[in-house]
Amino acid sequence: MNLAIFASGNGSNFQVLTEKIQAGSISAQLSFLFCDQKEACALKRAERLSAPHFSFELKEFASKEAYETKLVALLDQHRVDLIVLAGYMKIVGSTLLQAYKGKIINIHPAFLPEFPGVHGIKDAFKAGVPESGVTVHYVDSGIDTGKIIQQVRVPRLENDTLESFEQRIHQAEYELYPKVVKELVERIRK
Ligand code: GRF
Repeated sequence: MNLAIFASGNGSNFQVLTEKIQAGSISAQLSFLFCDQKEACALKRAERLSAPHFSFELKEFASKEAYETKLVALLDQHRVDLIVLAGYMKIVGSTLLQAYKGKIINIHPAFLPEFPGVHGIKDAFKAGVPESGVTVHYVDSGIDTGKIIQQVRVPRLENDTLESFEQRIHQAEYELYPKVVKELVERIRK
């Protein structure tokens, strides 16, 4: 059972997942981290964790199709069974979606369908909701619209600042994502 994790920036979810894989609590191999930003912190984390990693950027290609064709070749070559998006900031295009249909999951820092999009944490905070959450879902052609796998609620406390709220959301991600990946891996292996 081979996983690929995709990230674009910080890579803290990638790190948490990789540590669980390396500790044996998720029974899968990490085939590689793919990062579409060559300067991203996620790549430095991969080096520190001695995790295989690849990086190329969309701007190096003539089209998104060409970029994703290279990605699909890399995934096929490593016989990847599940693609785990963890802060991957691109919309998955039809080339990758069709090749890995039903095999791509994502984590979103809000309780979907509430607050989709790139500012899920800030939008929930600004809206003043009493609670938001974290969602793991399958990826389809929309933005944060795929079938929900699991989600948890995270309260927004009265004295929360955006920073403290954000931290609590991330903490919930670090608990939920490894749990869901572990369960999916076990289900796929059966
Ligand atoms: C996470 O909040 C995730 O939900 C969102 O992007 C953020 C990535 O953080 N999709 P990191 O790169 O894993 O630190």
